[in-house]
Amino acid sequence: MTSTLNQQIQQFYDASSGLWEQIWGEHMHHGYYGADGHEKKDRRRAQIDLIEELLHWAQVERPERILDVGCGIGGSSLYLAEKFNASVTGITLSPVQAGRATDRASSAGLADGAGTGAIAQFQVADALNMPFADQSFDFIWSLESGEHMPDKAKFMQECYRVLKPGGTFLMVTWCHRPIDHQPLTADEQKHLADIYRVYCLPYVLSLPEYESIAHTLNFQQIRTADWSTAVAPFWDVVIDSAFNFEAIVGLLTSGWTTIQAALSLGLMQRGYQSGLIRFGLLQATR
Ligand SMILES: C[S@@+](CC[C@H](N)C(=O)[O-])C[C@H]1O[C@@H](n2cnc3c(N)ncnc32)[C@H](O)[C@@H]1O
Repeated sequence: MTSTLNQQIQQFYDASSGLWEQIWGEHMHHGYYGADGHEKKDRRRAQIDLIEELLHWAQVERPERILDVGCGIGGSSLYLAEKFNASVTGITLSPVQAGRATDRASSAGLADGAGTGAIAQFQVADALNMPFADQSFDFIWSLESGEHMPDKAKFMQECYRVLKPGGTFLMVTWCHRPIDHQPLTADEQKHLADIYRVYCLPYVLSLPEYESIAHTLNFQQIRTADWSTAVAPFWDVVIDSAFNFEAIVGLLTSGWTTIQAALSLGLMQRGYQSGLIRFGLLQATR
């Protein structure tokens, strides 16, 4: 089951990452439109603002060894390496993404740390079974990859294992609404199932459920926040830009899974509107 899911995720990103980069650039994550979601700005600016707002929220200061779990084509990895003059390791399931991230690091002079000391390196690896020694990193950044993990506790446990004592774990992930007062309705479950199918997700949890896993794993100083309002406008922007000529030609050559994902952008937009989909942040230290 897991390897089939991992293969699907790999194929999904192998097939769609080139088109995403061509149309939307190197960041494969939401943008930040102000706490109330009303700030008007360029989409790329909004994506960089999300990174900066997250670092500010998590009070990340001077990490030296960073792990980017689910790194895409290295958008955040390169940004963090340059910002902190740090060594960043990015992992992804997609060889196409790892190759493209490595090329981008080379072009930016970050492949070998020869210049400033900042370095960004990439490999194909599974976040549930990471090829790193215990206590290797002082900052773990996981931006919109947790929703793909088939075993959320195992994923967070692996992050705990490779984190140095005193290090920071920051996970930002798609969630569904909390279920302590009212379980998910049949309609909501159907809506989630449609999202899972098109974006290769096994399932998502609510933010309180992630928080309770973090407690079980002995993470310390756990903080959470729901930034759904701040990021939801992203989907309006993506939908507006998805159907220009260049994007449509690209879609037609990227295969059915990519076309399906593009045709289903409204699922996320409606999920935020109804309050079903939430954008969850969890920060903790070891
Ligand atoms: C939506 S992309 C986010 C990319 C990147 N964080 C960004 O913001 O640009 C999700 C990423 O998670 C990765 N991913 C999903 N499941 C994974 C797993 N089990 N192990 C490692 N990476 C995984 C995918 O390969 C992909 O790179």
